[in-house]
Amino acid sequence: MPSTPKTAEPAGTRSMAMLEVNNLKVDFDTPDGTLQAVRGLSYSLEAGQTLGIVGESGAGKSQGVFALMGLLPDNARVSGEVIFEGEPLLNLPEKQLNRIRAARIGMIFQDPMTSLNPFMKVSDQLTEVLVQHKGISRKQALQESLQMLDAVRIPEARNRIHRYPHEFSGGMRQRVMIAMSLLCRPQLLIADEPTTALDVTVQAQVMGLLRELQQEFNTAIILITHDLGVVAGSCDQILVMYGGQMMEYAATRDLFRDPTHPYTKGLMGAIPRIDEQIDELVTIPGNPPNLMNLPPGCPFCDRCPNAEPRCYHELDPPEHFEQGRIRVCNVPREAIR
Ligand SMILES: Nc1ncnc2c1ncn2[C@@H]1O[C@H](COP(=O)(O)OP(=O)(O)OP(=O)(O)O)[C@@H](O)[C@H]1O
Ligand SMILES: [Mg+2]
Repeated sequence: MPSTPKTAEPAGTRSMAMLEVNNLKVDFDTPDGTLQAVRGLSYSLEAGQTLGIVGESGAGKSQGVFALMGLLPDNARVSGEVIFEGEPLLNLPEKQLNRIRAARIGMIFQDPMTSLNPFMKVSDQLTEVLVQHKGISRKQALQESLQMLDAVRIPEARNRIHRYPHEFSGGMRQRVMIAMSLLCRPQLLIADEPTTALDVTVQAQVMGLLRELQQEFNTAIILITHDLGVVAGSCDQILVMYGGQMMEYAATRDLFRDPTHPYTKGLMGAIPRIDEQIDELVTIPGNPPNLMNLPPGCPFCDRCPNAEPRCYHELDPPEHFEQGRIRVCNVPREAIR
């Protein structure tokens, strides 16, 4: 059978991912000069998929997602492009952005107390969200809130819903937070270190719960963590950040099977393995760069085992590989030790 020639799509009708981020940058104006917190992130996310963003403290992970949500402080300057369901998000008027934020993009923070109001009963906080954004009655909202608390496995939700946040344990509070972020069935959920404050068993439960809810609601998730072990089991794609910059972006399977960046390799060396006797965690020697005074070349150069002299003063543009994989490194892929 003769193969049908592919007709070129007219410009502008390219099918788009649910979320597209192109060359996103965030600068902060400070009394001491400009701090370059995020320097050119590009990634895309499909419905129901999970993207993990990993990197050490200060890498720009949080500011990179706060930028999507328009949650940056006044001294921030953002550039680049963020398209959510075909609609550009950057520079959207506050009112429109608010509508999208509450109903279509949910957010979970590391510390649930930053999003839960300590002086309001959980029932009032949950129903408020629904009444405001879905325009349903209080009674109906209470019903839906209860269902959601059941979905996140709060035992005896019917009684507990009328309590205050401090009457819940840390793990339960995080579940309440997850329930609240999912109430309006957002297409995208941003989870910034959602389990860091919890102990290991509860961490695993909360991650398992997120995965289940994701399947149920087909929610896309951006999961931020400094722990590559957490993203390994729960993400489809991983974006590795260092010094505000994207170092590597790949499907999780490919990243673990064949890390192509010295920093990714370093992070993998730092994952404790259950089958090894560990006296001390492997860490990458050295410290992250000062974002106020970045070296002109690669931000990782002075900690990189593969660094060449030119890495100290220049950095090649991102290399694109099969399956959307991206890598930012001067040293050829084959030469990484
Ligand atoms: N309002 C601000 N003004 C100036 N600099 C800021 C501001 N907010 C954040 N920064 C800086 O931006 C950089 C990136 O911060 P970000 O919060 O994104 O890091 P992170 O990767 O999320 O780290 P962590 O794992 O510790 O949460 C940091 O150096 C931080 O000090
Ligand atoms: Mg952070």
